[in-house]
Amino acid sequence: MSDSVSRVAVLGANGGIGRRLLPRLATAGYDPIGVVRSEDQVERIREAGAEPRLGDLEETFAPALDGADAVVFTAGSGGGTGWDKTLMVDLWGAKRAVDAAAQEGADRFVMISSRGADNPQAGRAPLRPYLVAKHFADRYLRQSGLAETILRPTRLTEAEGTGRVATTDGDAIPRADVAQAVVACLQDEATVGRAIELYGGDTPIADALRP
Ligand SMILES: NC(=O)c1ccc[n+]([C@@H]2O[C@H](COP(=O)([O-])OP(=O)(O)OC[C@H]3O[C@@H](n4cnc5c(N)ncnc54)[C@H](OP(=O)(O)O)[C@@H]3O)[C@@H](O)[C@H]2O)c1
Repeated sequence: MSDSVSRVAVLGANGGIGRRLLPRLATAGYDPIGVVRSEDQVERIREAGAEPRLGDLEETFAPALDGADAVVFTAGSGGGTGWDKTLMVDLWGAKRAVDAAAQEGADRFVMISSRGADNPQAGRAPLRPYLVAKHFADRYLRQSGLAETILRPTRLTEAEGTGRVATTDGDAIPRADVAQAVVACLQDEATVGRAIELYGGDTPIADALRP
C-alpha cells in the first residue's frame, strides 16, 4: 500500500466493478468511501466494508470526496440509456470528478476508461459516441496534474476473478479482475501516468501492470 494513500473514494460504488472493489480495498488496508446516489444503496456499501456517502455525478458530489487521498471513477451511464447520459455521466461527470478530486485535495486518481478510447474512430460505429466521451474524459484527467492511471478494460463479464490479466490482447475480462487491478495500481506508483488496456489473460495482475 502506498504511504500517501489511505482513504479511497469510489464513484460508481454500487456498480459491477465498484461493488467488487470496496471489499478488496479494505482487505488491502485502505479505508474505502463508497459514493452512491440513493439512500437504498447505503446499507449495501456499509456491508461491503466502506463508508457510504451520497453523491450524484449529475448534481452534487464533491463533498462526498472530503478527506479522500485517492479517487476511483468507475461510474457509467450503462448501455440502456441515451446519448444525453453518455455526455452527462461518462464525459461531463468524469470531468467534474477530476475537478472535484483536485478541489478536495485527492491527488491520486484511477479512471476506468474503455478499450478503444485511445482511438474512437477505429471502434465499431455504435460504440463511437461512448468512446469519444471516454477519450476526452481521459485527456482531461491526463492534463489535470493529478497522479493518474487510466485503465482501459475490454468487454466486462460477471465471471469470477482469476487474478490474472493481459494488457495487449485477449478475451473479455471479469469485473472482479478489473477491481483487483485498481487496487494493484494504487499499490504501485509505476502505474502513474500510464494508460493500460486490460483483457482476460494469464499474467498475475501486479506483474501485468508493471511497465
Ligand atoms: N460494460 C462493459 O463491457 C465495459 C467495458 C469497458 C469499460 N466499461 C466501463 O467500466 C466502468 C464500470 O462498469 P460497470 O459494468 O461496473 O458499470 P455499472 O455496473 O453499470 O455501474 C455503473 C455505476 O455508475 C453509477 N452511476 C450512473 N450514473 C450516476 C450518477 N449520475 N451519479 C452517480 N453514480 C452514477 C450507477 O449507479 P446506480 O447503481 O445508482 O445505477 C452504477 O452503480 C464504467 O465506467 C464503464 O463505462 C464498461
